[in-house]
Amino acid sequence: MKPIKMIIDTDPGIDDVMAILFAHQHPNIDLLGLTTVIGNGTLETVTRNALLLKKYFNLACDVAKGADKPLQGEAREEPTFVHGDNGLGNIEIDEKEDFGKIDPRPACDYLIDQIRANPNEITLVAIGQLTNLALAIEKAPDIIPLVKQVIIMGGAFGYNGHFGNVTPVAEANIYGDPWAADKVLTAKWDVVIVGLDVTHQVIMKNEHFEQLKENSQYGQFIYDISRFYLNFYKTKGLDNGCAVHDSSAIFYALHPELFKTIKGPVRVVTEGITKGQTVIKTSDFQFGIDEWKEMPHQTVCVDVDAQACLDLYQTTMCNCK
Ligand code: BDR
Ligand code: CA
Repeated sequence: MKPIKMIIDTDPGIDDVMAILFAHQHPNIDLLGLTTVIGNGTLETVTRNALLLKKYFNLACDVAKGADKPLQGEAREEPTFVHGDNGLGNIEIDEKEDFGKIDPRPACDYLIDQIRANPNEITLVAIGQLTNLALAIEKAPDIIPLVKQVIIMGGAFGYNGHFGNVTPVAEANIYGDPWAADKVLTAKWDVVIVGLDVTHQVIMKNEHFEQLKENSQYGQFIYDISRFYLNFYKTKGLDNGCAVHDSSAIFYALHPELFKTIKGPVRVVTEGITKGQTVIKTSDFQFGIDEWKEMPHQTVCVDVDAQACLDLYQTTMCNCK
C-alpha cells in the first residue's frame, strides 16, 4: 500500500497528541503537515504543542499556524478542565524552551499550496474546529476537487445514544465554529464524519496506557499527559477510561471497514439553543422547504468495531503487543 499523504488540522490537546503520534508511527501514513487551530488551548498554546511534538519525537512534518477565532464572533473559552492549562494535562514544560520554527505561511495558505502541489493525493484529517479548512476553500475553491478525502472528528447524530458533549446536542469541534463546519460539510468534496456516535464507543482504559508506558517509545509521554484527561472523564462518570476521539479519524483513514456508515446531506445549526448540532437528512422526501436539498451527500459513521480500533492503536504504538 502506498502511504496515505496526510495533513492533520489540529488543536493539540491530549487526544490530538495521541492521534498525531499514532499517524507519525503508522507505516502507511506519510504525515506532511500539522496545521493548528484554536480549540483545546489558545492558538499560541496548541501551536507550541505541535512544535513540541515535532521536536521531542522527530516528526518530519511542517507545522503551520492557523485561525485564532471562528469565522464569526469570538472564540469560546478554552476547555482547560479537559486538557489542562497547557493543553497537555499540565505536565511540566519549560516555557522558555525553543521548540523550533513554524512554516511562514498561515495554515489556510499552507493547505492550499500542499493540495495544489499534490492533486488528488492528500487526505485532510481535521480534529479541531473547521475554521482553517473553511478559510482555505473560501480563498481557493479550486482545491475542493483536488483533495482525495476529508475526514473530520466532530459532530454527533444521536446514534448509539450519543448526542453532544458541550451542549446537549453539540460536539466541541463543531460548536467551536459552526459556520465553518456548515461550509466544509456542504462543499462538493467527500467528507467522512467521525463523530461522538462512534468515538464515545472507543474507550481506552488505564490498562492500555500502562501497556503503552511499558512497550512504546511514546508511552511515557502519553501516559503522563493522559492522567489529567482520565480524571476529567472520572468527573463525567467514566471511572476507568476516556474516549478515543481524534485517533478514531485516523483509524478510519487506514481501515474504513471497521466503521458502519450512512450517507446523506449534513447541515450544521449556527444559531439558537441547538447551535453546533449536526443534522443529516436521511429521507428522499421532497419537502417544500428544504435546506439540505442539492447538498452533497457525506458519509457519517454510525457504528464501529471498538475493540479492533483499540488493538490497532496498541499494535502500532507498542514494540510488542
Ligand atoms: C473533540 O474536542 C476536543 O476536546 C478533542 O480534542 C476532540 O477533537 C471531542 O469532542
Ligand atoms: Ca482535537
